[in-house]
Amino acid sequence: MTGVSPPFHFDLHLIRLSIFLISLSTELTNSELRCHEQFIYFQNNCYYFSSQRLRFSAAKSVCNNYSDVSNPCHLTSIHSDCENKFVYQRATQLWGTATYWLGALKTTTGGNFSSWLDGSQMNFTQLKAYNKHGACLQQWTKENEWDDTFCSLKKYYVCKQTALCKY
Ligand SMILES: *[C@@H]1O[C@H](CO)[C@@H](O)[C@H](O)[C@H]1NC(C)=O
Ligand SMILES: *[C@@H]1O[C@H](CO)[C@@H](O)[C@H](O)[C@H]1NC(C)=O
Ligand SMILES: *[C@@H]1O[C@H](CO)[C@@H](O)[C@H](O)[C@H]1NC(C)=O
Repeated sequence: MTGVSPPFHFDLHLIRLSIFLISLSTELTNSELRCHEQFIYFQNNCYYFSSQRLRFSAAKSVCNNYSDVSNPCHLTSIHSDCENKFVYQRATQLWGTATYWLGALKTTTGGNFSSWLDGSQMNFTQLKAYNKHGACLQQWTKENEWDDTFCSLKKYYVCKQTALCKY
């Protein structure tokens, strides 16, 4: 034993631990649903925020690799202002100012995004800085906007899967 820590260190540690445990219990679970490890629960879905930057195609593969037999996992789609803010705020907390892949890819050169990779309709958009530069969809934390860019760039990415049943 090398000595006793001053009491305030111990208190701060306990406070941090409590905050961590509270955030875990509210984010990762609700009563009936659960997520795979490393995924964060939000409104019936589970989200994975990457720790490394990859090209679009590699990021897409990593997300697909988290799929279960009847529950595919894709680069994330975004369907509402609330979901957009959830992703954007979490990304900002984790990555600071950064760009990261969302799950959409143009099917025609010079065209526009038509649907999400998970097959859902693109019925919400933050595509403000549309510039016809590339075929892959990114979000930018600084402006909370979506943009198209070159798929070969290495970026962080967000995967999404429907939440799993706990039972
Ligand atoms: C997919 O998962 C397997 C098994 O964990 C792993 O060996 C493989 O490298 C993964 N592939 C990708 C693209 O992440
Ligand atoms: C591309 O699609 C988005 C989302 O549907 C739309 O907001 C935008 O106006 C479109 N841009 C062009 C140039 O068609
Ligand atoms: C947009 O699409 C999603 C996924 O298909 C759906 O759950 C949602 O209800 C739709 N929202 C609107 C406003 O149409």
